[in-house]
Amino acid sequence: MRRAAGAGSGSSGTETSCVAIAVGYHRPMTAVTIERLTRDASADDVSGLAQLLLDAVDSNAGISFMPGLTPAEAEAWWRSLFASAPPRAIVLAARDADGIVGTVQVQPSWAPNQPHRGDLAKLIVHRRGRGQGIAHALMAAAEREAAGEGLTLLVLDTCKGSAAERLYTSLGWVRVGEIPAFAFNPDGSTCDTVFFYKRLG
Ligand SMILES: CC(C)(COP(=O)(O)OP(=O)(O)OC[C@H]1O[C@@H](n2cnc3c(N)ncnc32)[C@H](O)[C@@H]1OP(=O)(O)O)[C@@H](O)C(=O)NCCC(=O)NCCS
Repeated sequence: MRRAAGAGSGSSGTETSCVAIAVGYHRPMTAVTIERLTRDASADDVSGLAQLLLDAVDSNAGISFMPGLTPAEAEAWWRSLFASAPPRAIVLAARDADGIVGTVQVQPSWAPNQPHRGDLAKLIVHRRGRGQGIAHALMAAAEREAAGEGLTLLVLDTCKGSAAERLYTSLGWVRVGEIPAFAFNPDGSTCDTVFFYKRLG
């Protein structure tokens, strides 16, 4: 089941859309809708999300997974994520004419002493859609949804030197510091990891 990003957890579940608008860019902007997925995401959606993970690994992005990830394993990861998602978890999907083209999620902290904090993770845009402002639109929607869930502090980490690091900086995220060789990229090189936070509201 889906609902419109921005609708909040108490929405009726009506599917509407949030059109990503890129102002001032030179390339035509593909029409993209952003929706919040719920834990009963369809098999098609799980498959589309799995394709994003596979495409990201193929593009050597540091997103937890390494080469050899199969479609079945990628789908199982998403199914498990939905199955264990707490009520305030936010999983967004951006769709273009060919299906799911991007995603991002916010996982609220489980800790009773951090009810205001969430981890932003797995921002991925398929290579067919990159450079058109889709990640910008996903991030704006994720921050709106997180605020709607009462979250006032988000944290994330990303590979130093990546397109994502530039994006978060340009969106006003505050760089805290970095840990060298924190993870591996799919090609086996190590990835220094940068930590960011953003206060909402
Ligand atoms: C990082 C990532 C999500 C960015 O997605 P994206 O949709 O290409 O990002 P956007 O288009 O919103 O913005 C990226 C850049 O394109 C530029 N851009 C946006 N729309 C544009 C357009 N129509 N024409 C040209 N450039 C454009 C933006 O200015 C931005 O430039 P900047 O990085 O210098 O600020 C994508 O590269 C990706 O999925 N990478 C692999 C996974 C990954 O590493 N995720 C991060 C995990 S923490």
